[in-house]
Amino acid sequence: MGLDKSPAILRGRRLVLGVTGSIAAYKAVSLLRALKCRGASVSVVMTDSATKFVAPLTFEVLSGERVTTSLFEAREEMRHLTVPEGAHAVIIAPATANFLAKAAVGLADDVLSTMLLTAQCPMIIAPAMDGGMWEHPTVVEHVRMLRARGVIVLDPEEGPLASGQVAQGRLAAEARIVEAVEALLIPQADWLGHRVLVSAGPTQEAIDPVRFISNRSSGKMGYAIAEAARDRGAEVVLVTGPTALVPPAGVEVVFVTSAQEMADSLCRHFAWATVVVMAAAVADFRPREQAVQKMKKQGRMSLTLDLEVAPDILAMLSAKRTAQVLVGFAAETEDVVAHAMAKLVGKGLDAIVANDVTKEGAGFGSDDNAAVVLSRGGRRKEFGLMSKRRLADYILTEVRDLPVTCRTSSIGVE
Ligand code: C5P
Repeated sequence: MGLDKSPAILRGRRLVLGVTGSIAAYKAVSLLRALKCRGASVSVVMTDSATKFVAPLTFEVLSGERVTTSLFEAREEMRHLTVPEGAHAVIIAPATANFLAKAAVGLADDVLSTMLLTAQCPMIIAPAMDGGMWEHPTVVEHVRMLRARGVIVLDPEEGPLASGQVAQGRLAAEARIVEAVEALLIPQADWLGHRVLVSAGPTQEAIDPVRFISNRSSGKMGYAIAEAARDRGAEVVLVTGPTALVPPAGVEVVFVTSAQEMADSLCRHFAWATVVVMAAAVADFRPREQAVQKMKKQGRMSLTLDLEVAPDILAMLSAKRTAQVLVGFAAETEDVVAHAMAKLVGKGLDAIVANDVTKEGAGFGSDDNAAVVLSRGGRRKEFGLMSKRRLADYILTEVRDLPVTCRTSSIGVE
């Protein structure tokens, strides 16, 4: 497998790699590299016999994390509880016949088998064994028990074994194990190969050093788009105005404050992107001048602010596009579809997501939203009230499926 070319589609995923005492333990080193190259963080746990085949130091250096080899290595720390905490998957590769038996019946006599009883996440087991053990009725029965509990057991492959015998017992090829991990954690990798630039949140336009003009955007819709695109295999850069949200893992996040900073950052990343989703509520107007010192109210009965138009980022990007697909948002309070349609055409977009921000339970600050997605060429899809995360997935599917004849640039499913 070409490590350098691997897309980092496991970014933000935490994996536990369990290694047991089979000669194939050396292959787990390469598997670890492949998982790391795809962006996953990997904690390695080894059984005692695994350490006879490969030194824990090898895994430690390549994973960049401490390797767990014993239940008793640090009494103050419960490694069998802490290591699988928050893990997205446990992968046991290679798994010996002994380990399959322990996993099947719930025997917990070392750190790895004990961990299996505490892990809350899905599990993939890739057995490896010599001498026809794979066909032994007890092994067959243990595999059946594990599969019945939802564990993914990857059949070993047929071929020459360490003993010289030719039988089914070789550890599944690295590509198969990686594929199984990807299929488990990225059920829809339909955005693989795309580079998505997302903007989110409000902008703040300074009046003086302590005051600014802003809006009610929470950033939740843009963050949801960024997370959905990441989960579907895209590389994502999120340019965000000030929000109270936790930056999503596995996404490059750029923090900006004003419309100008947002415009600069988006312009910098524009050539890189294949798709741009402008979910940010960018200021339309900003103070023409910013007071250097805090403005005083003494002696004033009123104050008039002189505002100028802020850069229309989407229109700017639209003018300099090469092959990017451009998606805008339209937060409206009346005539939602008509206003959104005018923006779609006026800003030269491929699609626009229009929502009525006065609708109860939807819009600014809410976890839910309802929207109409309008596309160039007259396509129109309506989505009722649902979580912003779910809506984000529907929006991405709409953008992915834009008819080729109706868009100014192309987005193919790769
Ligand atoms: O014209 P309006 O501000 O309603 O357009 C909304 C869309 O345009 C959103 O996608 C928003 O992110 C984008 N926009 C922009 N630059 C602005 C204002 C809005 O890119 N100055």
